[in-house]
Amino acid sequence: MKSITNLICNHRSIRNFTNQAVSNEQCKQIIEAAQSASTSSFLQCYSIIRISDKLLRSEFAILSGDQKWILESAEFWVFCADFNRHIEVCSNAKLGYIEYLIIGCIDTAMMAQNAMITAESMDLGGVFIGGIRNDIEKAVKLLYLPKFVLPLFGLCLGYPQYIPEIKPRIPWEVIVHENKYHPLNQKILERYNLDIKKYYQNRSNNKRNDTWSQLIKQLMIKEMRPYMLNYLHKQGWGIY
Ligand SMILES: Cc1cc2nc3c(=O)[nH]c(=O)nc-3n(C[C@H](O)[C@H](O)[C@H](O)COP(=O)(O)O)c2cc1C
Repeated sequence: MKSITNLICNHRSIRNFTNQAVSNEQCKQIIEAAQSASTSSFLQCYSIIRISDKLLRSEFAILSGDQKWILESAEFWVFCADFNRHIEVCSNAKLGYIEYLIIGCIDTAMMAQNAMITAESMDLGGVFIGGIRNDIEKAVKLLYLPKFVLPLFGLCLGYPQYIPEIKPRIPWEVIVHENKYHPLNQKILERYNLDIKKYYQNRSNNKRNDTWSQLIKQLMIKEMRPYMLNYLHKQGWGIY
């Protein structure tokens, strides 16, 4: 059995899958492990929606920006922050606090990462799909989601056709601070930029020539789903 640290450090997103199915027993184990994650105040404020309908899958593939792996993976699950059952239990629950939105996102993400690790421990691979938020209103309609159920991201799962190279992360010295926040160490960043450039140039697929800083500069000057605040307020999230 692989050590947990090895398993976790071996992660790479998988975007190409064989036709092999993931069994119901595997799905059950993955979901049980996912649910074992810590959960704020024991709220368990999340749901997973398994998309087995091929037509619905294709709708999600398109609205996520034509991500074909949504169609090709054995499983596609949508992870939602979910307070619907809390309203059923407590009809006067004050869900408008932005803190509930934060809690819902944290709990769902922690649970989903447990799902990814468990799937990887079974030699499955996966990729999260934030692209489902490209048209959040449509995603909500397609899944008949009630109020206070927020689709956050999808997860494609299946057996990998090939295993891509590991994407190097920022050196840990940059993300760990001791006792107080430290400014960004430019020397380490420069070194990392070179590492990432080498990684992009040498990887088997989708080669490119960017550094990490270039990537961030291209990405972060664009609008980022600017409709989100209005949508959330319309749905009663984060009003105080
Ligand atoms: C919440 C979330 C949403 C993501 N959305 C997408 C997506 O829509 N499409 C995609 O191809 N990858 C998506 N990814 C995968 C990231 O691009 C990937 O994790 C990152 O580039 C690091 O690569 P690695 O996972 O192979 O180490 C997403 C990852 C996360 C955590």
